[in-house]
Amino acid sequence: MRIRPAVKSDREEILSFCVNTFGWGDYIDRVWNYWYKSGQLLVVEDGSRKIGMSHLAICPDGKSVWLEGVRVHPNYRRSGIATQLITKMTKYARQKGTRQAFAIVDVTNVASQRMMEKSGFAVVSRWAYYSAGGRPSRIKSGARLATIDELDVTWKYLQHSKIYSLSARRYVKSWHWYSLNKKALRDFIRERRVIVTGGPVNGVAIINRHGYWDRTNILQIVYLDAASAGPLRHLVSFVTNVYLDGRFEGLQLVCHDSKRLTSFIEKFMIKEEEQFLLYNKVFTAKHTPTQ
Ligand SMILES: CC(C)(COP(=O)(O)OP(=O)(O)OC[C@H]1O[C@@H](n2cnc3c(N)ncnc32)[C@H](O)[C@@H]1OP(=O)(O)O)[C@@H](O)C(=O)NCCC(=O)NCCS
Repeated sequence: MRIRPAVKSDREEILSFCVNTFGWGDYIDRVWNYWYKSGQLLVVEDGSRKIGMSHLAICPDGKSVWLEGVRVHPNYRRSGIATQLITKMTKYARQKGTRQAFAIVDVTNVASQRMMEKSGFAVVSRWAYYSAGGRPSRIKSGARLATIDELDVTWKYLQHSKIYSLSARRYVKSWHWYSLNKKALRDFIRERRVIVTGGPVNGVAIINRHGYWDRTNILQIVYLDAASAGPLRHLVSFVTNVYLDGRFEGLQLVCHDSKRLTSFIEKFMIKEEEQFLLYNKVFTAKHTPTQ
């Protein structure tokens, strides 16, 4: 058995077993070409058979690596193949200077959870995903797009927010969870993607108007945080109105799986929902032998 970079002809044989991973199927067929072009796509081969795959992406901060798409052919499971893929990916990422790794696992995928834990990963956050169905009605909202003058108050709000800390201080981009630091917040305010309520600020939502992968016409809430039900209602109403004003084909929300947020969201017209665990492993410092 050997692990090697993917080649073009691997696609079909690998995709043949990337099915039914989730209740709705799998997404590997939608990302294979992007991942292939990134050059960080691995395939496991046993003789002439292709029996496993995985992908890694170095995060924009250069300090973390994102691990994803671990798949092993059903006939070859429980023989350590996924563990070897994870070891290979983390070794490569460490050589590239990263200090920690992240991955996301569906709450119902027990095999994958055990696999992550066996490789030394721990759960640092739990997230919920919702996709809205139907056509919501317009609701009056007291929320607004944050201006650059509001950077400091918004940042201060986040730093004292329990939800920010429970969210592992992260937001979502194309199903990768990245650090929501002050620089990212500043960039998002400039891009007119930050919505706030209250004075002082008592709720923050960050949106993405460009979807992900092959679905670019989706409006997403990629971070959501509110001190109570009132500000939450204003934020969600504001985003609903952005959705109605634009020609989006879908509205999605990804946020920390807190009762405070989800009990309100669940009153909306929900078409799909899923919960995920965010896993993290901090690499230990390498031992440097003393002279
Ligand atoms: C999850 C998956 C990648 C594991 O691959 P694998 O090669 O069988 O994993 P490994 O042999 O390296 O197993 C490592 C550990 O994970 C745990 N594990 C793996 N499969 C498990 C299962 N079905 N039930 C419980 N624990 C399991 C065990 O602790 C195992 O160690 P052990 O065999 O010494 O007890 C494989 O089952 C798979 O491809 N599933 C479908 C795709 C998928 O869910 N991918 C992950 C999406 S996030």
